[in-house]
Amino acid sequence: MDWTGGYVADIGYISGFYRELGPTYLSFAARLQGEPAPDPARPFTYAELGCGQGVGTAILAAANPHARFVGIDLLPAHIANARDLAEAAGLANVAFHEAGFDEAAAWPDGALPAFDYVTLHGIYAWISEANRQAVVRFLARWLKPGGLVYVSYNAMPGWAGLQPLQRLLREHAARHPDRSDRQIEAGLGFVQRLREAGLAYFDRHPAATSKLDGMGEPASEAAYLAHEYLNTAAQPLYASDVADELAAAKLAYVGSADLIENYDALSLPEPARQALAESADPAFRELIRDYAVNRQFRRDIFVKGSRPGTGAQQDAALLDTALVPLRARSAMTANFTTHLGEMAGRTQVYRPLMDRLARGRATLGELTEATGVEPAACIQACAVLTATGQVHPAQPTADPAPAHRLGAELARRILQDELHGYLPAPAAGNGIAASDIEIVALDALREAGPETADRLARAVWSRFRAVGRRMVRDGETLTSERANLRELRRRARAILRERVPVWRKLGLL
Ligand SMILES: C[S@@+](CC[C@H](N)C(=O)[O-])C[C@H]1O[C@@H](n2cnc3c(N)ncnc32)[C@H](O)[C@@H]1O
Repeated sequence: MDWTGGYVADIGYISGFYRELGPTYLSFAARLQGEPAPDPARPFTYAELGCGQGVGTAILAAANPHARFVGIDLLPAHIANARDLAEAAGLANVAFHEAGFDEAAAWPDGALPAFDYVTLHGIYAWISEANRQAVVRFLARWLKPGGLVYVSYNAMPGWAGLQPLQRLLREHAARHPDRSDRQIEAGLGFVQRLREAGLAYFDRHPAATSKLDGMGEPASEAAYLAHEYLNTAAQPLYASDVADELAAAKLAYVGSADLIENYDALSLPEPARQALAESADPAFRELIRDYAVNRQFRRDIFVKGSRPGTGAQQDAALLDTALVPLRARSAMTANFTTHLGEMAGRTQVYRPLMDRLARGRATLGELTEATGVEPAACIQACAVLTATGQVHPAQPTADPAPAHRLGAELARRILQDELHGYLPAPAAGNGIAASDIEIVALDALREAGPETADRLARAVWSRFRAVGRRMVRDGETLTSERANLRELRRRARAILRERVPVWRKLGLL
């Protein structure tokens, strides 16, 4: 395993998608924090480091055909799968490279373009210090001035109680050589027995017991857990250490991609806000925020060269940003949950904004004008509506063909039990969440044009039946064709009523 730097290499990682990596999302997040950001409506360059199976990079490439994407990962099986997917969908604007971060950081001039965005999800706290330094060299070398970086990692202090659990799984695995997923399964069995035997660690560390409760459910979990817990180099990081390390690539912290976390009034208890007032040091304040909520995971955005403008410039950049709805009006809500518990947005602010946004794309400037909501309240409410997945930063509709081709390929793979709950949405420049049935239904709608619920249900059923897929209702698998069709008709009615109008606004149909 020498070539991996301690990274688990004998089984592939799960295929995931995380909207925070989307360029439109990242630029909006940076603007909300007062930083000028690359304009994702213009041609741009984007690299995902540790792209895994490449599904996320491929979705972003399909949703942004005017931009150029690069995915880099150490594991050849990941890169082979990623290339297969891109080829199957005919994506011409993405290249996948099998390389370690150290190699890519040292590639000769011209091997890569300079990037507007570099993202790393689930990488930085899972690799060795030497590899973290290689990532920093990559950023110093290949990120443009003014470029944005997204980096997520397991964080302290929230991970403090979990480290001994990780250690125990690793120690058990070291004494039971086997394939990583089997080591995880055996290790979890062992740990559960210790817990049932009443070992004090489990009593005193509720974070560990609640993690254990959530482990080992679906079959794909073992691959996730192996990469999460068996990497010998994995360790949680303090936000201030990450900021220090990335400062070597001239990066400055911008804010969290969890947009609500950037509003102390919405996310921190009053005593924590008072503690924050005691320091003007941004890195120290960020650390206090992590202690205030015992944060386990961070999604940080950095910029190469911070240059906050005047308040008026910041507002102008935001008021120029457009949003599109991700939900029908009936499914939108002003309620949201933060570390403070359930919150309710002010009706006189949220209601008119949701009414207008549900009708279709609008810039924040148009929203304030149409609703009379003043800019500061409009901006904050739009951040909350974005964070809660109800609207999304928009971009001018580009060529939707690559997104449609990838959507068709994902629908085909879903029928082969490769689960991906996302679709590329050209008008959002990002992936959007969709269930298996929705993804297959969208594919059927694209092929057959406008449909009644009955015809849509039959089209989905013919695809499901061909691969032996059955509908499940109230936990029960439906066996007869009649019952499957009845359930599919119910779903199809909801899709035609709630999803299709939104999909049209997103350029999916
Ligand atoms: C936990 S997975 C995350 C994958 C993907 N970003 C996601 O979130 O679904 C970490 C990925 O980093 C890759 N990786 C680990 N060490 C690496 C290195 N030194 N150079 C390049 N890639 C590496 C692994 O192959 C793996 O795909």
